[in-house]
Amino acid sequence: MKAKIIYASQTGNTQEIVDVLKENLQDLNVEVDASECTVSSAAEFLNADLCIVATYTYGYGDLPDEIVPLFEELQGLDLSGKVFGTIGSGDMSYDDAYCKSVDDFAQVLLEAGAIKGAESVKIEFTPEGDDYQKIQEFAKELVAHIT
Ligand SMILES: Cc1cc2nc3c(=O)[nH]c(=O)nc-3n(C[C@H](O)[C@H](O)[C@H](O)COP(=O)(O)O)c2cc1C
Repeated sequence: MKAKIIYASQTGNTQEIVDVLKENLQDLNVEVDASECTVSSAAEFLNADLCIVATYTYGYGDLPDEIVPLFEELQGLDLSGKVFGTIGSGDMSYDDAYCKSVDDFAQVLLEAGAIKGAESVKIEFTPEGDDYQKIQEFAKELVAHIT
């Protein structure tokens, strides 16, 4: 089973989440390829069973500039038969814009025909305490949707 993770991280928080998620998926015998969005294309999801987007949120509920091309590519892609998950980092003081980019990617992946394998995970800044368990559960649920 193969997972492709495409992510954006400006200050390293989302990168940390991706590192933890990657380890959890590998523990479940998933072959994981994670790459930063600026060197990735949405078409790479076509070679994976599990398509994961990890991103922070910028502006006020905005997608980070560098991940906008991925979002636009997904609008023209057919990912039917794939399972997806979205995860990311944000700051709760942005209230209703908290981790909004995570939800925006979940929506575009659904529209591309992929199946949501687990509820999206939102982490405030870097993972700590219960967050590690949330990431592990996320990994388990995603994998359970494939096997
Ligand atoms: C200018 C600016 C705007 C931000 N806007 C939002 C926002 O709308 N929603 C949110 O949840 N977090 C927002 N954040 C917080 C970041 O998403 C948060 O710090 C995140 O952990 C950064 O992830 P990274 O370390 O992977 O870059 C903003 C941060 C900055 C500096």
